[in-house]
Parts: sequence; structure tokens; C-alpha cells
Amino acid sequence: MRHILGNTPLGKENLLKLFAEAEQLRRYYYKSIGGRYYLSQFLQGKTIALLFFEPSTRTHDSFFLAARTLGADILSHQDMKQTSAAKGESLEDTIRTITAYPQVSAIVMRHPEKGATLRAANTIERLLTAGRVKRSIPVINAGDGSGWHPTQAYLDIYTLWRHGKLQEDGRMRGAIFGDLGNARVIHSLVLELSVFRPKLYLVGPAYDNIPHCVYSPAAVNGAKLVKVSRLQARMLENVDFCYFVRLQEERLTVKSEEEKKQMRTVYKREYGCSSLIRRWAPADTVFLHPGPIREEMPDSAKWDPRFVYEEQIENGVWLRAALLNMLLNPDSSKVP
Ligand code: NCD
Repeated sequence: MRHILGNTPLGKENLLKLFAEAEQLRRYYYKSIGGRYYLSQFLQGKTIALLFFEPSTRTHDSFFLAARTLGADILSHQDMKQTSAAKGESLEDTIRTITAYPQVSAIVMRHPEKGATLRAANTIERLLTAGRVKRSIPVINAGDGSGWHPTQAYLDIYTLWRHGKLQEDGRMRGAIFGDLGNARVIHSLVLELSVFRPKLYLVGPAYDNIPHCVYSPAAVNGAKLVKVSRLQARMLENVDFCYFVRLQEERLTVKSEEEKKQMRTVYKREYGCSSLIRRWAPADTVFLHPGPIREEMPDSAKWDPRFVYEEQIENGVWLRAALLNMLLNPDSSKVP
């Protein structure tokens, strides 16, 4: 686990270890002031670089809070127009610069280009081989274009696990709605969940599907993936979760404002958390959404008791704290 890039699943054992550790960290935080002080020593003396070349609220903030809670310092770039990237500096040279600061222990990176975090990780490996950096610096993919977003999937699965919905023996069922081709959160969710061999309905437009690099390994791992363009009531019988995501507008190939507006209307109707879905889905189903929320979650869906949005947000902090601790304190990664 040198880097967290998302192109291979973390695996059952590591996920469950991560969840157990996230639980421990949460417990210490809520226990007492002493518990919080104890946590603040885990990453003391380390700096986490947050390089966000694309907008973010939840992912940036939860990494920030996770790192701060464990006592790390932060180097944060949220507006890359304010960095030398705007002057034409290559991603490789930015990484080379950041890793030259001796304080930096890990890089969390979001980028509009698919494969950008892999490039960053390769740069670090090359610097290591050339002896230009002396310590290993993990890169964590916080979303690369339409590629992967592994830590979002970890926190989503952690949320399912906390609700007792993570069934390991192939009995798990889920329905995932929306922008299958462009939504990296869906790609990572399908791949990371696949090791539990779930049956997943992928509900999206007929012309759209998850890419082969997601489908193929997920199927090999034993996930049963059923692509449908239209949902039927029987598909939601016994479903453990429903997952919604906004239309990834910024990744649509140029469309006029009018076309985008039209797409939003269709998207809301076909792939949103409609009243029909809310009627068909069992009472103990969990509704998940990574945010940001748009038209696909109408107000009544946002207040549905099955929608666990706030839990996802909080779980993101503990999960990401556990991940940072696991990567940066591998020998003592168990919280005593
Ligand atoms: C997602 C992302 O950035 O891919 N958001 C997030 O990280 N919470 C989903 C999205 O932008 O729609």
C-alpha cells in the first residue's frame, strides 16, 4: 500500500482493518479532551500536502480535518490558478517541488485529468530511484477526472458496514443510479465493492456504461453487474442500498446551456431519487450520495430518513484519518 491510486481494490482485509481503526479514532475523539490530545500526537511533525487542482468541499475538508485531528500540519492548494501550474509548470515539476520540502509526508491530490495521480506517484518513484528524495511519500488519489475516487468508495462502504449492510457472502444487493461513464465515485464504488461479490443494478442511459477498466476486474472479482436503462420495482426488493450522484456536467463533451438544462431535467426524472424509488425501496435501505447534491435529490428525498448524508460526511473524516495513520504509521497503525 505505497500509494492509494484506486486502480486496484484495497481488498476485504484492508478495508475491514481501516473500518476498525476509524471506529477507534472516533471513540477517542468523543471520549474526552484527553482523547483528543492523544489523537493529536499521531501525525505530529508531519505535513500533509493537499493539492486540489479541481474544486472540492467534502474531500478537501475531511482530509484537512482528519490530518489536523491527528496533529499534522497542512500545506493546502485549493486554487491552482494561484500556483505555478498557471504559469505552465508541469504536474511532474510541481510534485518534484512539493517532495523537496522535507516536512511533506504525504500528498493528497485531486486533478481534472484521468491518470494524473498515477503520474504523480510515478514521479515520486523516479525521484526515489534517482536518490533525489530519500523517503517514501504516498500519493492519495482524491479524484482524477473520470477515473477513480477510492477514498470516497471506502467511506461509502464504511457507512454501509456501520449499517450492517456489508454482506460478504455474495448476498449484498445495491442499485447505483446515474452518470455511469463519467462518475469516478461510481467507478471506485463498483471496483471496491466487487470483492464482496454483490449484485449491483447499474441504472443509467442506454448509451452510457461504466468503462471496461471497471467492469472487467469487478466481474472477475465476482460482482454480478446488471446494466439497466429503466428501473423496475422488483429490482429494489431487498436492496441494501441505493446510490445517487449528480450529472457530471463538467465532463460532458461540449453541450450548449440549453442542452445541459434539458439533460438535467431528464437526469432528475430517470436517475434521481424519485418518489417511485422511495416507495419501492425497503424501509431499511440506505440512500447514499457523495455530494454535491443537485436536482437528482429533490427536497423530499433529502429529508428521507433513509438518506444518511451527514453520516457519510462524518465517516469520511474518521476513515481518512485512519488511512493517513495506516500509511504514515504502518508499524503502529493499531490505535492502542
Ligand atoms: C464527487 C467527486 O468529486 O467525484 N464528490 C466528492 O468527492 N464528494 C462527486 C461529484 O462531484 O459529483
